[in-house]
Amino acid sequence: MSSASGRRILLGISGGIAAYKSAQLARLLKQGGHEVRVVMTQGAQAFIAPLTLQALSGEPVRTSLLDPEAEAGMGHIELARWAEIILVAPATADLMARLAQGHADDLLTTLCLASPAQKIMAPAMNQAMWAHPATARNAEQLREDGWQLLGPDSGEQACGDVGPGRMLEPESICAALFDATSTSTTPAVASSNSGLHIVITAGPTREPLDPVRYLSNHSSGKMGYALATAATELGARVTLISGPVSLTTPPGVQRVDVETAVQMAEAAEQLANGADVFIGCAAVADYRAETPAEHKLKKRADEDSLTLRLVKNPDIIAAIAGRARSPGRPYVVGFAAETRDLEDYARDKLTRKNLDMVVGNDVSLVGLGFGGDNNAALLLWRDMEGREGRQELPPQPKIELARAIIHHALSQHSINSH
Ligand code: C5P
Repeated sequence: MSSASGRRILLGISGGIAAYKSAQLARLLKQGGHEVRVVMTQGAQAFIAPLTLQALSGEPVRTSLLDPEAEAGMGHIELARWAEIILVAPATADLMARLAQGHADDLLTTLCLASPAQKIMAPAMNQAMWAHPATARNAEQLREDGWQLLGPDSGEQACGDVGPGRMLEPESICAALFDATSTSTTPAVASSNSGLHIVITAGPTREPLDPVRYLSNHSSGKMGYALATAATELGARVTLISGPVSLTTPPGVQRVDVETAVQMAEAAEQLANGADVFIGCAAVADYRAETPAEHKLKKRADEDSLTLRLVKNPDIIAAIAGRARSPGRPYVVGFAAETRDLEDYARDKLTRKNLDMVVGNDVSLVGLGFGGDNNAALLLWRDMEGREGRQELPPQPKIELARAIIHHALSQHSINSH
């Protein structure tokens, strides 16, 4: 399997104002250890000079199909074969239309048609152009032809309009590109996560019955701790709200210890303020004793049974996911540990708790889930437009799985928040 670093990326730039951001994109791709060759359309050169891209990519920039000198070096068919990934950013409405039609009337469209590379584009255009049915048709056709579309983002546009059509920021394109092209765990875009704050709950909670007894569960905390490790590896600041476990705190992680669900809820409510991502991995006890006894409960010689009155604990993750979108609501990832009908229950949790992503795992499978070192997962997510995504992650060590989950969560988060 190819690694996400060291890929051969052909960066295609078409003629929109967002082309100036492609310089930063080329820089980030180079920093990520990739080989980058740039192809610019004629329109792109009106916005940014080929020399800028040449300096950043360290390679001559190609601009023309019919250039005898360039063809004498690496011919266009050779270039089409060289590319492992074609990334077009920005992709204008016109370029999308030409690609959807299969045109080959300049170097970039010819390469797209001739290359077997994985193809990804970041559309950028005026919001009315993006909203036009012709563009929607072209986008649909391109997806059908195997293109992956990243964005566009919504917000204020260079022309003064407000709406969807802005190109995603280069950092988000890199993160999404990494996610789209690799199952490797190499943190190719670690530096782009350095400003992120991720709050994770982990482990079980303990609900006291009296001063010496409690209700709890078998959660070891390993998955939550692995997520904390994976998130710090990627450069994020991590706060781990941990129930009682016998694990050491991963380096660089701020740990807040709690015992009960109510304590965990209080810590989470506070720490989630301003956080970018909230991951609820804790196995929170659903109920607690209504009134824990002040003194040790005594065995009664005259009673063969004992009735405990339990009351419901707060649903921590649902409270955070239920916050108004922004500000104050992080991207929320929940877990669904199930013993049957995994996908149905996980999807139900996604909807009912208003989560952005749910990580379903079947804890009935031998050697997976609670306590063990391996785990498998089914990821389900929903983007801002309500479109669902789905990805199965096969059985693997919890730390590998944690890295994959963090990659998915961060790239979905960055797509949603740009
Ligand atoms: O409802 P259920 O316990 O199956 O949901 C699991 C998900 O909800 C996990 O992400 C878990 O951390 C979170 N949860 C919570 N507070 C609760 C119960 C579950 O945050 N009281």
